[in-house]
Amino acid sequence: MSQSNNRINSKREGFSSSFGVLAATLGSAVGLGNIWKFPSLTGANGGASFLLIYLLSTLMIGLPVMIAEITLGRKAKANPITALRTLAPGRLPWWLIGVSGMAAAFLILSFYSEVVAWVFAYVLKAVNGSILSSDPAVTLAAFDTLSRDPVQSLLWQWVVLVFIGGILLCGVTKGIEAITKKLMPLLFLLLLLLGGASLTLDGAAQGLGFLFNPEWSKLSASVVLTAMGLAFFKLSIGMGTMMTYGSYFRDDQNIPVTAFRVMCADLCVSLLAGIAIFPAVFTFGFEPSSGPSLVFITIPAVFAQMPMGHVLMVMFFVLTAVAATGAMLSLMEVPVVILHERLGISRSKAIMATLVLLMVAGSGAALSHSTLSEFKVAGLTMFDLADYLSSNILLPTGGIFIALFVGWFWGVDRFIQALSNQGQLSNATVARAIFFLLRYVSPALILLVMLQGLDLI
Ligand code: TRP
Repeated sequence: MSQSNNRINSKREGFSSSFGVLAATLGSAVGLGNIWKFPSLTGANGGASFLLIYLLSTLMIGLPVMIAEITLGRKAKANPITALRTLAPGRLPWWLIGVSGMAAAFLILSFYSEVVAWVFAYVLKAVNGSILSSDPAVTLAAFDTLSRDPVQSLLWQWVVLVFIGGILLCGVTKGIEAITKKLMPLLFLLLLLLGGASLTLDGAAQGLGFLFNPEWSKLSASVVLTAMGLAFFKLSIGMGTMMTYGSYFRDDQNIPVTAFRVMCADLCVSLLAGIAIFPAVFTFGFEPSSGPSLVFITIPAVFAQMPMGHVLMVMFFVLTAVAATGAMLSLMEVPVVILHERLGISRSKAIMATLVLLMVAGSGAALSHSTLSEFKVAGLTMFDLADYLSSNILLPTGGIFIALFVGWFWGVDRFIQALSNQGQLSNATVARAIFFLLRYVSPALILLVMLQGLDLI
């Protein structure tokens, strides 16, 4: 290892406490995926039947891949590209997983940051009451005014990027860890309050029915792919995020236990978000639409009719902003630490470079509701294309290679050694089971679901 690498490594920051590890990792998993994707995808694709496929994907594929990523990161204590170069020197180019992860990070951030931009703008609109109208035509007009204005779209996106960059500038311990430790409890508090308020409404049963009644007839290969893509997106896996966070894990942290807790807590957040949203939607006679319109058009109109609606609406958008912040931090940390460690530039320069690159890369998605709304590839706007490509193709492909790397190249002994912190933690049986999934089950399942879902077989 070169001298400069040594210098960087000896000063390398990490998460300082067990709670910090949990908060940061959960902060990455919880995000717009829980509030903006999970409820509407579940509702639209058959309720409980979709939920079941999603749960199976999470357990058989998501959890093992998440554990693999964290373990690789912690073992190498480096960014994804360096990590794979160190763990697999000289042979096959496994480090390309890190390169494709960096590309995926930019792709996801390009549309993700725009949705977060709307959320930030909506926090202000909720506070000043300008979106508080029970007439969906009014809330639709408010959303259109924002999303169809190229200047506002870009400016809000930049506000979000600079805000996240500012937190990253404070470092891993004082930035990411400190912020997520405060935000995660706040998130649960707000969610419980909102869920409780929603369950007291008349349409609660109907709302829960929409979310939980199975509709097996809606199951299809592409629905299964959607569920699996959601599992990847939710757990922040397949692109090196968990590898990067793993490199900040303490050696005595029991990775399978942490990953399992994160998975369960993330699922709770998703379910609570659904419980907060759908009863209210049905009580006031709205159609549960999907995508941006549910959060930005239907929700304000619903809250306007609820008792204490103004306060609840502010809470909802603050909650969404809080969830999105932890996720954005983890997405942006990947290119930042890659640029920092691979190019040997300072962390602050790496953050600046990432910000500039993202302002350029994100503009396509930011403008796809205005200036570029007619520009489509395969019938999708830049925004939808980035969403589709990342969840359904890049993340699962990354997942296949991570599973193959551990299962066939790294091998069971090194995996068990790394997972048990050289034998100090007694989790060898769990490690063997996870290894089996990684070697045989996860890659085969991912490939099958992708080929079927993309209509290739
Ligand atoms: N998991 C986050 C969410 O649900 C999004 C996210 C953060 C992500 N980091 C990621 C998705 C890495 C894929 C890869 O909103």
